[in-house]
Amino acid sequence: MTILIDQPELIGSRAEDQNLQEQTNELVLDGGFVVPKTMPNDGFVAPEINSFGKTFRDYNAECERQKSVEEFYRLQHINQTYDFVKKMREEYAKLDKAEMSIWECCELLNEVVDESDPDLDEPQIQHLLQSAEAIRKDYPDEDWLHLTALIHDLGKVLTLPKFGGLPQWAVVGDTFPLGCAFDESNVHHKYFKENPDSNNPAYNTKNGIYTEGCGLDNVMISWGHDDYMYLVCLLCFESNHNCAGAYSSRSTKI
Ligand SMILES: [Fe+2]
Ligand SMILES: [Fe+2]
Repeated sequence: MTILIDQPELIGSRAEDQNLQEQTNELVLDGGFVVPKTMPNDGFVAPEINSFGKTFRDYNAECERQKSVEEFYRLQHINQTYDFVKKMREEYAKLDKAEMSIWECCELLNEVVDESDPDLDEPQIQHLLQSAEAIRKDYPDEDWLHLTALIHDLGKVLTLPKFGGLPQWAVVGDTFPLGCAFDESNVHHKYFKENPDSNNPAYNTKNGIYTEGCGLDNVMISWGHDDYMYLVCLLCFESNHNCAGAYSSRSTKI
């Protein structure tokens, strides 16, 4: 899942940060990344560039990667329909694709590159490890958060033949609700025009099939790695099926 945020104003530089750190001898909790200063007490800081020195989530930058990212979103917006998601949820709720440990699943991501990500074209196992290690450095006592970072994108195994070999548009990219009108804040919104649901009067009004305030549990979200991981965790907890296995070296069904 991608969360779009406003870019914070970058004040100062890495060198200034280091100077400050040397002068005050205070630990800078930046997970090894360049982190801009933000207003105090706002609770959240975001780096302006990634570890490869590029800016984040610039969907309009003119480069080859940007063109393939836009083509990815064209296919995703045309093909993710309410009926498609319903079918996928039924299929993957069977948890009959594999049985493995978390680490075995992490290693499978050595084969997966996320085509929707304008920032990163490295295998996804690097993303998992970087996320987990950066969070461990910044929040050493929050072990649940280290684990969350490590497993958050495991659902991308959906692209592998053993897990159905789904196309990238059915696995990665931003997610959005189905069964109601597509909001204009979605990146590359124009391609939703070709989605059959855009012409379905049951789905193309503001609230569509939902009632105001019905709660996210009742909303059908586009199918992909996030929804798959959510489904695996949910079914695991609900059935109490080898739940400990999901968080240890023991294996669990996915
Ligand atoms: Fe993700
Ligand atoms: Fe991620």
